[in-house]
Amino acid sequence: MKIDVLLGLQWGDEGKGKVVDVLTPHYDIIARFQGGPNAGHTLEFEGKKYVLRSIPSGIFQHGQTNLIGNGVVLDPILFRQEAEALEKSGIDLKKILKISKKVHLILPTHRLLDAANEKSKGSAKIGTTGKGIGPTYTDKISRNGVRLGDTLSKDFAERYANARDRHLHMLESMGETPDISALEKEWFDAIEYIKDYDIVDSEHYINHQLNEGKTVLCEGAQGTMLDIDFGSYPFVTSSNTVTAGACTGLGVAPNKINDVYGIFKAYCTRVGSGPFPTELFDETGKTIRDIGHEYGAVTGRERRCGWIDLVALRYAIMVNGVTRLIMMKSDVLDNFPEIKACTAYSINGEITRDFPYSVDSDEIVPVYTTLPGWRTDMTAMKSAEQFPKEFVDYIHFLENELGVPITIVSVGPDREQTIILKK
Ligand code: GDP
Ligand code: IMO
Ligand code: MG
Repeated sequence: MKIDVLLGLQWGDEGKGKVVDVLTPHYDIIARFQGGPNAGHTLEFEGKKYVLRSIPSGIFQHGQTNLIGNGVVLDPILFRQEAEALEKSGIDLKKILKISKKVHLILPTHRLLDAANEKSKGSAKIGTTGKGIGPTYTDKISRNGVRLGDTLSKDFAERYANARDRHLHMLESMGETPDISALEKEWFDAIEYIKDYDIVDSEHYINHQLNEGKTVLCEGAQGTMLDIDFGSYPFVTSSNTVTAGACTGLGVAPNKINDVYGIFKAYCTRVGSGPFPTELFDETGKTIRDIGHEYGAVTGRERRCGWIDLVALRYAIMVNGVTRLIMMKSDVLDNFPEIKACTAYSINGEITRDFPYSVDSDEIVPVYTTLPGWRTDMTAMKSAEQFPKEFVDYIHFLENELGVPITIVSVGPDREQTIILKK
């Protein structure tokens, strides 16, 4: 029995989609367990580029089954757009994709509530992706949600209308009186489209497959620092992005989880508001953004850039039980004469290596170790034997600081630009 989890250790956009695609041939099933179309997972191969939002990144390899688990929130309209584009490019999605009956549906009014909530927060806004994620999970937890399985029941229209009316009242109290008739029609058309997919009792399905000896890779969305419990609250998303989220988001028991792949960039980025202790406001930050093309895959927003934060990474490794590390985008630092890594925080003069309750950037001064850069173009490298000495030293330094081996290094966006280290 084997179920591994791959998840982001920073503030999202670590490169999860790329690596899930690379690892897919080793698994039978690829499963998303939380989040929704707030995710944007980019894959590049054979000169083509795809950005996946709700659909797992295991759809491009050898016909593996892909599963959207119960912990995901699904927007029928965006799902349809994403799925139809993939079908046009030749993917027989209906054959390889299963969707849990228990996924919660994002209603058109959830998106409007997301926007209205943000507006009402003014300068304290979270900077959400605007996809209705928070309001949909709020309805789930307050036991008011509408699930995909409900679409198969006779009173579905009534359940939908009850939720919509409640949302419209909330919107009205916030001064919004939107006309949603066109959106509603599109939404119901998309529901009919989804009904052609295999809508399953996913917790039964996945456990049955595991008992049959099949292997599963769980694909995280967002990142640990955006987790609803452990992230930089309230500037977080509304789901558990950590390993435990794979258990609740798929219905697999904790003792079935095998390896946990923790993925991070050789530096750090964040999109949206909230604290970011190692953020760079200078030319170096701008250079990282330019070379790393750090603009959001979903919203196109500029990503904030900074040096790698080992305090936050150690914390993320701890709460996730990471067994293997994956380092992405090291090529972005190929030309840097020196590289900095934050190994501790100084908070009001006191040094700590443990991630604190509050990460208000104003109070925290990062303590940096400076390492020599490798100043070598690594983008065409195929094996660890080709690595420059400074890069090998950088890996050893990180492994030493983090206490977990780095088993994969990515040196470019393409599927081929991935180096598996033998560990
Ligand atoms: P995800 O949300 O974790 O899947 O990551 P995103 O797709 O949002 O952002 C990662 C971006 O970096 C994408 O544009 C990828 O194509 C790109 N990328 C992934 N790995 C590498 C790498 O090793 N080097 C470079 N330069 N780009 C990479
Ligand atoms: P992937 O899977 C980066 C951020 C938003 C915002 C906060 C809350 O591509 O790594 P939400 O719409 O979830 O209510 O927004 O979380 N955020 C992400 N940032 N990558 C993502 O996903 C993100 N999904 C949400 O920018 O700060
Ligand atoms: Mg992304």
